[in-house]
Amino acid sequence: MFKVPPLAPQRLQKLLRAMPKAELHIHIEGSLEPELIFALAQRNGVPLPYASVEALRQAYAFTNLQSFLDIYYAGASVLLHEQDFYDMARAYLARAAMDNVAHAEIFFDPQTHTARGVAMEAVINGLHRACEDARAELGISATLILCFLRHLSEASAFETLEQAQPLLGKIVGVGLDSSEVGHPPEKFARVFARCRELGLHLVAHAGEEGPPAYIWSALDVLKVERIDHGVQAVHDAALMQRLAQDRIPLTVCPLSNQKLCVFPDLKDHNLRQLLDAGLCATVNSDDPAYFGGYINENFTQVFAATAMTARHAYQLAFNSFEASFASQADKRVWEHRLKEAFERFVEHD
Ligand code: HPA
Ligand code: ZN
Repeated sequence: MFKVPPLAPQRLQKLLRAMPKAELHIHIEGSLEPELIFALAQRNGVPLPYASVEALRQAYAFTNLQSFLDIYYAGASVLLHEQDFYDMARAYLARAAMDNVAHAEIFFDPQTHTARGVAMEAVINGLHRACEDARAELGISATLILCFLRHLSEASAFETLEQAQPLLGKIVGVGLDSSEVGHPPEKFARVFARCRELGLHLVAHAGEEGPPAYIWSALDVLKVERIDHGVQAVHDAALMQRLAQDRIPLTVCPLSNQKLCVFPDLKDHNLRQLLDAGLCATVNSDDPAYFGGYINENFTQVFAATAMTARHAYQLAFNSFEASFASQADKRVWEHRLKEAFERFVEHD
C-alpha cells in the first residue's frame, strides 16, 4: 500500500474532509432534515405530531435502535409524490458532494411508503432521477439499494420485490434493515436467493445490536457481499478471521452507534480495532439528519476520539472504493484521485 507519513492533528482533520470517499451506508429517509420534513408536510397537507422544527429536533434523543426507528418512520410519512423523493435525494447528494463523496450507494425503504399507498414507481423513479441529475450537475456518482424491512414478513418482502421487478434496472442491489434483534437474516433466505438469481448485489444490516450469529447467517445463508454495521463481530474471533480473510466489507457508522448507545462514548468505538485486525471497514453516516452529522463529521469525530492516523484515513477511503459496487474503471479513477489528495497534503505539511 501507498506509504502514508503521520500528520499533525489539525492537518489530518483537514485531510479527512478533503479526501475523496464513497458512502455505502446512507438511508435516504434518514437524510430528511427537520426543515424539509416540515416543508413537505405543508406541501402535502400531512399533519405532524410536532409543533415546530425545534420540537421535532428535541425528540431526537434515542436510547436504542427501536427508539430511533419510531421517529424515523414518522418523519418519512411526509413523502407522497415522486417529486418528494427527488427533492430528498437531491438535497442529500448536494450535501454529500460538499463532503467530497465521489460515489454513494443509497438505501431506500419502499415498504415504508407503499404501506401508505405510495406507488413503487414514484419512489424509485424520483430517487433515480435525482441520482442521474446529480451525476450531470454535481459530478457525483450515485446508485440505489432497495432495503427490505426485517420486522415485516417474508411474504411482504416478496411482494415488494415483485412491485420493483419492472424497475430493477434502476437499482444495483438489495439490503435488509429495521429492527434487528428477533429478526435474524435467515427469515429472508428465500427472498435473497431470488434476488441473487436476478443478478442483484446483496447486503444486510447485521451485528449492529444483534449477535455475531446474525453476521454468520447474513454471510452463509443470505450470501451477502457486505455487512452493514457489523461492529459486534469483535466478540467472535473466528468471525473476525473470516471477515478479514474474505475481505468482507463492513459499513461502519460511528455517530449512529454513539447516538443509538451501541458505543455511548465515541472513544470506545471499535473502528480502529476492526481496521488493525485487517478488516475492510468503511466510515458512513447511516441517518445523518438524525445522528448529528454527514460523512465528514463521522470521520472527524471518530478520528478525534480514537486517535487514528493518516494511514487509517487512507485505508478507510481506499476501502470505501474497493467495497463499492462501482465498475473497476471507476474504482481506479477514484483511487488515483485519493492518492493525489494524500500526496498534496503530505508535501505541504
Ligand atoms: N439500522 C437498522 N435499520 C435502519 C437503520 C439502522 O441503523 N437506519 C435506518 N434504518
Ligand atoms: Zn443503517
